[in-house]
Amino acid sequence: MKIVDLLGYQVLDSRGRPTVAARITLADGSSHVAKVPSGASTGQHEAAELRDGKITGTNSYYSGLSVTNAVSNINNKIKPVIIGLDINLNQVDSKLIELDSSERFTNIGANSTLAVSLASSLAHAHSQQKSLVRFFQPNGKLMIPMPMINILSGGAHANRGMDIQDVLIIPIGAKSFSEAIAWAAGIREAAAKLGQAKGMLTHLVADEGGLGIAFNSVNAACEFVIEAIGSVGLKVGQEVSLALDIAATQFFSENNYVLASANKSYSGKEFVQFIVNLVNDFPIVSIEDPFAEDDWQSWIDFNQIAPKPIQILGDDLLTTNLSRLERAILDKAANAILIKPNQNGLVTNTEHVVRKAKEARFRTVVSARSGETEDSWLADLAVGWGAGQIKVGSTHGSERTSKWNRLLELELIEDCEFVNPFA
Ligand code: PGA
Ligand code: ZN
Repeated sequence: MKIVDLLGYQVLDSRGRPTVAARITLADGSSHVAKVPSGASTGQHEAAELRDGKITGTNSYYSGLSVTNAVSNINNKIKPVIIGLDINLNQVDSKLIELDSSERFTNIGANSTLAVSLASSLAHAHSQQKSLVRFFQPNGKLMIPMPMINILSGGAHANRGMDIQDVLIIPIGAKSFSEAIAWAAGIREAAAKLGQAKGMLTHLVADEGGLGIAFNSVNAACEFVIEAIGSVGLKVGQEVSLALDIAATQFFSENNYVLASANKSYSGKEFVQFIVNLVNDFPIVSIEDPFAEDDWQSWIDFNQIAPKPIQILGDDLLTTNLSRLERAILDKAANAILIKPNQNGLVTNTEHVVRKAKEARFRTVVSARSGETEDSWLADLAVGWGAGQIKVGSTHGSERTSKWNRLLELELIEDCEFVNPFA
């Protein structure tokens, strides 16, 4: 089925910042829209997000964050080369690479390439009369991923009220996805009540829907979440475990890890020990970005002495990038990769990264960004690629619940199995 139109336009993300949307129209009159997310604690090695910088006119109100150049690249550079083609995701992605062969899509912007690539996935699925998830996995039982849900936020997502970025929960004892989400929603509510009872500022909701309560130590934040889990009658460590996103690049300065809230500074070696102690002291089953994005040595050191079967998850370290993943596999720097399509820039290449990770027995965690949209394609990608885990933020905010709700729907309507990588 032929592509008859492509339209790029500027919309808003969940932080009220501009982002890119693309709309593909096919010969049968159907149109397929995708909007791209955007990070705040972005890694240096991510695909390039094109923003306008200083600009005059209406878009000047966006403080340089408007994306009119990326949008114009869709309408003026991408549109002429894909219009008239039979819709095919692989072919569209190849055309995008031909248009911009730079490693990080610095010329036309990864926000424009991903928007077109995603809209093409949706349109291609439609042309085969399939849902997006069944486009990626046409037959067989679908694997519904284990969710990782944000309860407390700090770092770049909550005005640095806490040094690390996320304290999350993983409902490792849940028997279904719907049970996992029910537990998470209960714990999120319980945490807000607990905070209130302790006189904390619980109305401060962070970028990913978690509570932006200030804590001056990581231990205190973990203890707080453990208390919240216990208060709803769930067993910590057996039914619900903890996960942390340290987002250490954010506080790595002059070769030191500087925890401002705790008023402490650590060398790489000392911080490896700090992380080992955390993992020993708390029921933590997954730890993301415990070290800075280019501090490979600390990652390798930690991987060698990590105290229990722990998921060592690379986000800023790996940036959904094939060569960085290959390096991590060779160096044994991690054992799991966060998968963010907009760190990569293309749907097909993101899927390659997932496949490569699985071949190397790395776990894969498909992830949203802190600046999200109401789109739910991420849920279909996570299931269609059999990722095993998904991280979307908290249970608050429609840009978060659109993904959880799509997974709840898939669990009901499809032949599927709820995955538990931590069993
Ligand atoms: P970001 O945060 O989207 O701001 O990068 C998400 C994460 O670090 O996992
Ligand atoms: Zn992260």
